[in-house]
Amino acid sequence: MPTLKEAVKPLIPRELWDKVPRSFDIIGSRSGAVAIIEIPPELEDYKFVIGEAIVKLNKHVKAVVRRIGAREGEFRLYRYEVLVPGPTEVIHKEDNYLIKVDPPTKAYFSPRDQGDREDIARQVMPGEVILYPPFAGVGPYAITILKRQSSVKLIIAIELNEYAYYYMLDNIKLNRLEGKVLPLLGDASRLMRLFCGVDRIILTLPLGAHRFLMQSLMCIKDGGIIHFYHLGTEENPYGEAEGLVRNYCGDLGYDCQVINRRIVRDYAPYVYKVRLDIRVGKF
Ligand SMILES: C[S@@+](CC[C@H](N)C(=O)[O-])C[C@H]1O[C@@H](n2cnc3c(N)ncnc32)[C@H](O)[C@@H]1O
Repeated sequence: MPTLKEAVKPLIPRELWDKVPRSFDIIGSRSGAVAIIEIPPELEDYKFVIGEAIVKLNKHVKAVVRRIGAREGEFRLYRYEVLVPGPTEVIHKEDNYLIKVDPPTKAYFSPRDQGDREDIARQVMPGEVILYPPFAGVGPYAITILKRQSSVKLIIAIELNEYAYYYMLDNIKLNRLEGKVLPLLGDASRLMRLFCGVDRIILTLPLGAHRFLMQSLMCIKDGGIIHFYHLGTEENPYGEAEGLVRNYCGDLGYDCQVINRRIVRDYAPYVYKVRLDIRVGKF
């Protein structure tokens, strides 16, 4: 199958060939998918040509949207421009589970986090109670964990965006995980303190998780694990995140050990989304 660049070459001027994006996200499954692409301003006049080419190359893609700017607001959504109109609510198939979502307009979801979800799922032990995340979105971390480790006792999943919350309810049913997830709609800063003493807390909001770090440290049980997400520069990806952990743990008198560091993925030019896994000792 030709690449997107090869497909549009006959339709756009030669000097713009190198501007054609090499990659884009496809979210969905064979029954229908949405493609999300970033198109540089130089290709403004050819954006619809590019959209049509994506649909021709990927028969299951029913809609194409162009991402504009960075994620914004509390719900971490992009602004989008429609290039090929069509349904944007899709059921994304990942490994052995399904995730229903309308990623462009209603709720955060990124297929690029799959490796990170799997990495966390591999660490989870039978019988754990997990506070996930105070930023649950449509529930993909809960679903990945439970599909790998079915003996988890309970995952408490808190989400503020009503659309994401209702998709999470659908996703629990779609994957037959009723009784294993306690989904809650509301602000994590008020709700998470009701669930202290858990084994694991997953803080997946790289731009704001640090605001919940102190509360998470106080809430986790002795010996529990916090997965803390933050942003880091290319020169020193973990420096700022580790500084925050050191300061907060120092203030509380806790013995916090960073047991694992991971660059999750690119976030912006020269900026990474990073994760620290922290074991919290309280006595
Ligand atoms: C970066 S997304 C991650 C979602 C999910 N973990 C995933 O990987 O798809 C962060 C989510 O946190 C939610 N959020 C932001 N502030 C929140 C708060 N104070 N309480 C609960 N959820 C919040 C947003 O609506 C968004 O869905």
